[in-house]
Amino acid sequence: MRVLIVGSGGREHAIAQKIFNDLQKPEIFCLPGNPGTFRIAENITNIPENDFNSILDFCLQKTIDLVVIGPEIPLVNGLADILRREGISVFGPSARAARIEGDKSFSKKFMQKYHIPTAAFRVFSSEDVENIREYCFTLGFPVVLKASGLAAGKGVLICYSQEELNSALEDLCYKHIFGDASKQIVVEEFMEGEEASVFAITDGVNFLCLPSARDHKRIFDGDKGKNTGGMGAYSPANNIDGALQKKIEDTIIKPAIAGLHAEGSPFSGCLYAGLMINDGEPKVVEFNCRFGDPETQVVLQNISGSFLDLLSSVAEGKIIPESVVTNSGVAVCVVLASEGYPENYSKNLPIDGLNDIDDTDVSIFHAGTKSEGEKILTSGGRVLGVTGFDKHGNLPECIKKTYETVAKISFRGMQFRRDIAAKALTR
Ligand code: AMP
Ligand code: GLY
Repeated sequence: MRVLIVGSGGREHAIAQKIFNDLQKPEIFCLPGNPGTFRIAENITNIPENDFNSILDFCLQKTIDLVVIGPEIPLVNGLADILRREGISVFGPSARAARIEGDKSFSKKFMQKYHIPTAAFRVFSSEDVENIREYCFTLGFPVVLKASGLAAGKGVLICYSQEELNSALEDLCYKHIFGDASKQIVVEEFMEGEEASVFAITDGVNFLCLPSARDHKRIFDGDKGKNTGGMGAYSPANNIDGALQKKIEDTIIKPAIAGLHAEGSPFSGCLYAGLMINDGEPKVVEFNCRFGDPETQVVLQNISGSFLDLLSSVAEGKIIPESVVTNSGVAVCVVLASEGYPENYSKNLPIDGLNDIDDTDVSIFHAGTKSEGEKILTSGGRVLGVTGFDKHGNLPECIKKTYETVAKISFRGMQFRRDIAAKALTR
């Protein structure tokens, strides 16, 4: 069996590793992959990620049996559609279904139509500044402004005061810092609560939820500072028990899957629900059309069976949920980031210590790295995901071994959070 994984981050490395460990021993290609996937797969670096026709030619020429598309951009731009049209099995939604992430105004109106709990909102044109302002005053501070289109996880501005609102409006409506993504702006009510992420693997009709997870989006300890792509994660989420999981499935996942089907754009792939949970009531912060990163790095540690069979069954149109089982372990991922991230960051710095990792319970997933001869250098904001697993579900032990491995790795300016999963210990 031959599998192609599209993408180059920690998520794609974690997916590649899981598939590499499959008993079927598939041949794996990563496009473009990274120095981590290089050890377990063939990296295809001569085809740009946005050259869909060349990706199609590659799949036909290599007789690829399954394509797994990691990031949102190729999904939103229709890579899955192009490949499927030529009969290739793809894990990942069509462009129409991917609007659930790529077009927040569509997504919010969709949730409203199908009675999926989410923050109160209205959608505006970015030229409609006075009406935006007026609606913000109706909602009261804090208020949340979102660019409707894709903005690399940075298009959400939470305003706590009039000054912050002015500066957000300046960025979104006059400076257009997110370009076309902020032609439409979603203004929404601020939700209190604690966040969690749930991944529903679905063929468009039936689904299976993988173990839940919690991301740490802010750059600094104690959830301070700017939002990032995610500075660490743990799984399972400590704020979701069996009853709440059922409520999430009944009030969010099922109506979303049924609704997308009813809209004529059935969703096949991983439907990611980013949730805010307050007093046992889950509401949707956002839907994504793909696996989360870094959450995937922890979620996949805790399932056994054949993840490859699960993905293949979805790609072939009928999910076989029995392909995998959820175990009772815990996993913790600490992201090592470049100095300056999530803003301008330094690059091309040598990473030390990667050859000294000997704990078999800890995986190092590459995200923003590149190789130069024998050396591994930094090349992105999020550089590595250090992911520990404890099969007995001992969280303190898992945190300890993860940070012991973190301590062995270094590069100039390396920054990471020291409190990943700490919240889960206090309960
Ligand atoms: P998103 O890119 O939509 O996931 O938003 C990024 C982060 O902003 C979320 O993870 C939340 O922490 C926060 N956020 C977004 N929308 C809201 C909201 N309506 N209320 C409170 N926090 C929000
Ligand atoms: N970790 C957040 C995301 O993948 O969108």
